Amino acid sequence: MTSILVLNGPNLNLLGQRQPEVYGSTTLADIEAACTAHGDASGLSVSCFQSNHEGALVDAIHAAKGVRDGIILNAGAYTHTSVALMDAIASVELPVVELHLSNIHAREAFRHKSYIAPVAIGQICGFGAHGYILALDALRQHLLGRTSE
Ligand code: DQA
Repeated sequence: MTSILVLNGPNLNLLGQRQPEVYGSTTLADIEAACTAHGDASGLSVSCFQSNHEGALVDAIHAAKGVRDGIILNAGAYTHTSVALMDAIASVELPVVELHLSNIHAREAFRHKSYIAPVAIGQICGFGAHGYILALDALRQHLLGRTSE
């Protein structure tokens, strides 16, 4: 079965309480449950991990190599700073969908820069918690297309 890692970075454990006017009222537990349920319905095995620590996210990306078929990554603020996450993604050669709840391009200029974008297959942002479902569908289609090549 196709296996997907949903990886969330710093401060996303506070979803639901954290700036709900920007990030919505859905909690991370709700998002992870929705991803698992959507995976069950569409033939994907979904596992989820969140960390506030850059190195733990790097470790999770490394551990996905050979075990997962792809990654959905909301790297939070590390999106805009982390060469280490960019290098980790490039090293494992797994398809990654970059995800943000908010539309980072409509926010402060420092959020417009993404170190993840150059090594991701695509980016979904601005659709709130539903973006995770869109990302799962996009990654599934990408993987299906690759198998039928
Ligand atoms: C975020 C956007 C980032 O700029 C921010 O630092 C986050 C959340 C989002 O999901 O919209 O922590 O990745």
